[in-house]
Amino acid sequence: MSRKPIFAANWKMNLGPAATESFVRSFLEKLQGQTYPAEIVIAPPFVSLPKLAETLHGSAAGKEAESVQIAAQNCSDKDPGAFTGEVNVLMLRELYVRYVIIGHSERRSIYGETDAIINAKIKKAREANLKPIFCIGETLAEREAGQLETVLRTQITGGLQDIAEKDMLETVIAYEPVWAIGTGVTATSAQAQDAHAFVRSVLTELYGAETAAKIRIQYGGSVKPNNAAELMACPDIDGALIGGASLEPQSFLDIIVNGTKVQGS
Ligand code: 13P
Repeated sequence: MSRKPIFAANWKMNLGPAATESFVRSFLEKLQGQTYPAEIVIAPPFVSLPKLAETLHGSAAGKEAESVQIAAQNCSDKDPGAFTGEVNVLMLRELYVRYVIIGHSERRSIYGETDAIINAKIKKAREANLKPIFCIGETLAEREAGQLETVLRTQITGGLQDIAEKDMLETVIAYEPVWAIGTGVTATSAQAQDAHAFVRSVLTELYGAETAAKIRIQYGGSVKPNNAAELMACPDIDGALIGGASLEPQSFLDIIVNGTKVQGS
């Protein structure tokens, strides 16, 4: 089963509009003439989305820009209305957003997002035909207590409650062990592959083998140019969700280059 890998930059609360414009100009220049067998996605902060859309889709952008998709880092689970500080899915659509990261561990741990909230956001994203990048992952304490599979299963079944098979085919899962996020400690490729295979086995229980085999599962957590190839060589790893190393155009590109060499070979 061939799944097109997806490399997504999650800039978190970094790179405002001006920095976004210079990143994209530099990144497109580096892409010049090159194509990679992968989807490339950038998720900037909300305020940088208009500048990202304008720089990618403006008249000055070349053909390379077509290979880059725009993601949001979050969305509201509500329809337009009195929700101060929130951003709804229709607004994201207006800004050419195609993907939305939902349930990132920082949203879960710092902002209290539960599986039920995450489930509501996934449903709302699909109503607007946005593709969720649905994040799951265990803490170090949970892993050490032997709870890896229980935690992942709970997050998957809770987050995907009543999500139809056709919507799952438009959903990407990002497995991000919390202990590997921003720490410089990457999961070994064996640890990552084991977790991804487990996630796919739960998807098989929920949606059947044929659908599960089509769903892309990204790895996230201290992905760097020098570990991308080894991680992407694993059979159940279909790309990466990258934080720190996606803030520099060259290092984001190097991850894509190194990661796709393996996939393509
Ligand atoms: P780092 O790549 O900085 O570890 O962040 C991973 C992440 O959380 C991506 O969503």
